[in-house]
Amino acid sequence: MSAGLLAVLLQVNGESRAVAVPARRTLLDALRDQPGLTGAKKGWNAGLCGACNVLIDGDVIRSCLCLAAGTADRAITTVEGLAVDGRPSVVQQAFLDAGAIQCGFCMTGMIVSATALLQHNPKPSRDDIRTAISGNLCRCSGYVKVIEAIELAVARLAQPAGETPGPALAAE
Ligand code: FES
Repeated sequence: MSAGLLAVLLQVNGESRAVAVPARRTLLDALRDQPGLTGAKKGWNAGLCGACNVLIDGDVIRSCLCLAAGTADRAITTVEGLAVDGRPSVVQQAFLDAGAIQCGFCMTGMIVSATALLQHNPKPSRDDIRTAISGNLCRCSGYVKVIEAIELAVARLAQPAGETPGPALAAE
């Protein structure tokens, strides 16, 4: 390994991923550069927009504000990890079906935030939804469709098991 690099074993989407990173490499850059998980987007790269959101131990975290070396052995879920065997999760499918996409740049971070919301609160009010995505900025200002998509996911998740399109919320 090159001098100055740290060997870090990331636990991402249920798999161990060994990366070699400078001490100050962010989790966002480490995910995008080495495992090639580009679902988390680099927006302002300053904790402001939510485009880089991932789940760490179930909590929504801005990966541009985390050092990769500080996340070893924690359970990281990226938007890619929400699908199972190539099938989108209910939240991912709802975003597609509701057309909650304009340029698409913010969408993955929105989906991560929405997934965390529904894992903690399966029957959110519209205000709960607004609060959950309040840290996700959409430069197209396309929030209405996003809220409709999350409400569609809520309705689908309330259906009996087996009647929801796609895996429920995330890979186990
Ligand atoms: S890129 Fe991390 S919050 Fe915007």
